[in-house]
Amino acid sequence: MRSLIKNQALIQQGSFINGQFVSTNYHFEVTNPAKNVTLIQVAEVDAKQLNQAVESSSLAQKSWQNVPAQEKARILRRWLTLLEENHDDLATIMSLEQGKTLADAKAEIAYGNSFVEWFSEEAKRIYGDTVSAPAADKRITVIKQPVGVVGAITPWNFPNAMITRKAAAAFAAGCSFIVKPAAETPLSALAIAYLAQQAGLPDGLFNVVVGENAQVIGEVLTTHPLINKFTFTGSTRVGKLLTAQCANTVKRVSMELGGNAPFIVFDDADLEVAINALMANKFRNCGQTCISANRIYVHESVYQQFSQMLVERVSELKQGDGLEPTNNIGCLIHHQAAKHVHQLVAGAIEQGAKVQIGGLPTAPENAFYPPTVLTNVSHGDAITQAEIFGPVLALIAFDDDDTVLAQANDTDYGLACYFFTQQLKRVNRFSEQLDYGMVGINDAVISNAAAPFGGVKQSGYGREGSKYGLDDFLDVKYLCHGAL
Ligand code: SIN
Repeated sequence: MRSLIKNQALIQQGSFINGQFVSTNYHFEVTNPAKNVTLIQVAEVDAKQLNQAVESSSLAQKSWQNVPAQEKARILRRWLTLLEENHDDLATIMSLEQGKTLADAKAEIAYGNSFVEWFSEEAKRIYGDTVSAPAADKRITVIKQPVGVVGAITPWNFPNAMITRKAAAAFAAGCSFIVKPAAETPLSALAIAYLAQQAGLPDGLFNVVVGENAQVIGEVLTTHPLINKFTFTGSTRVGKLLTAQCANTVKRVSMELGGNAPFIVFDDADLEVAINALMANKFRNCGQTCISANRIYVHESVYQQFSQMLVERVSELKQGDGLEPTNNIGCLIHHQAAKHVHQLVAGAIEQGAKVQIGGLPTAPENAFYPPTVLTNVSHGDAITQAEIFGPVLALIAFDDDDTVLAQANDTDYGLACYFFTQQLKRVNRFSEQLDYGMVGINDAVISNAAAPFGGVKQSGYGREGSKYGLDDFLDVKYLCHGAL
């Protein structure tokens, strides 16, 4: 892989702790899922290094919290400049280790950078309050202070942006940040940490601990008494376990978990707008996003037309190695993921679904699963209950508003949902009654730094990005001034 990268310092092969890249005797492989070849060996963090990561993070945070907001902002801006200067290399590294297309990888780097930019600005906008006191000789003030050391576990689907969205907010708030990136995609995390150090972020403030042994690393990040807050992006199943582990030391916790997004197309929708939005949403990162449209409800009067238009658009997609610029859809993260998608599709067919395009007659032999459209799917079929995490569109017909609203809410998840209509009354009703943290109205491209990203129900709690994104990294302190 080295020959493809201009800035060789971006390729690191061990954890980044207290300003240094470190090694150990045990290494794990990082592979390119498109070609199923090993890219590089990376050193697994050991117990001693994990402890150093936490201790150096605690020490660094104590100084960082006193650095003036303007200086914090300047360092974050320098980090942004370096991230921008290394944009192409960062995208190539990501495409290699994750399998997404170069276009998707470049879009993610820009998306990730937007959080660094956003929080470089928000660092200067942390406000408190003065509050009317209940007695003449008292005054109440409220200040906000950093929660302290933040532990994080981030996923492989967005190896850059899920780190910058948390880390930049943490630094802006005055916290330090220790992250365990997914074992599939450690290289992107190590590269951005290297650039943060070059930008002048003090040693220990940003530690990256890499390894395959998620249980051991996760245990430290969720139970160590010096870690004050834990933040996770990943599956609901794992999120529940990690939340429970945090209980013993009563850490602040924020969870960005799974989704099962309904996408509703009403009879009065602009079908062209809906299809464009669906294509952009569903095939971003080959369907591996937690806000990916998972269940497509289409009014029966436009069902036929909508599915034909959709199949036409899907047939134009070109799938292959993400590094090849003419491909606009890449592979899944690994062979196992492709097999999982195949099983869901096979199950749907058994339950009566019809394949309009895509599908595979037998289980895939590599990480590629083709873009697929299924019609004749019914609400409640297994494929509508699971998070597909692949390029499969399951189309369900509906005939009235009450039924589709109930069906859209019929899930334990509550991350994102989308609906398409021209009727104002419907817009108001569905915006308010859909039980989700994020609602796309005639839109399904909803992620950006200005917007609060997060879910309700078993999709988690806490918000990332936006002016709300700092709250999870700040404690509220009440000062009661008496005898005045
Ligand atoms: C995710 O899939 O976890 C995040 C997607 C996004 O930020 O748009």
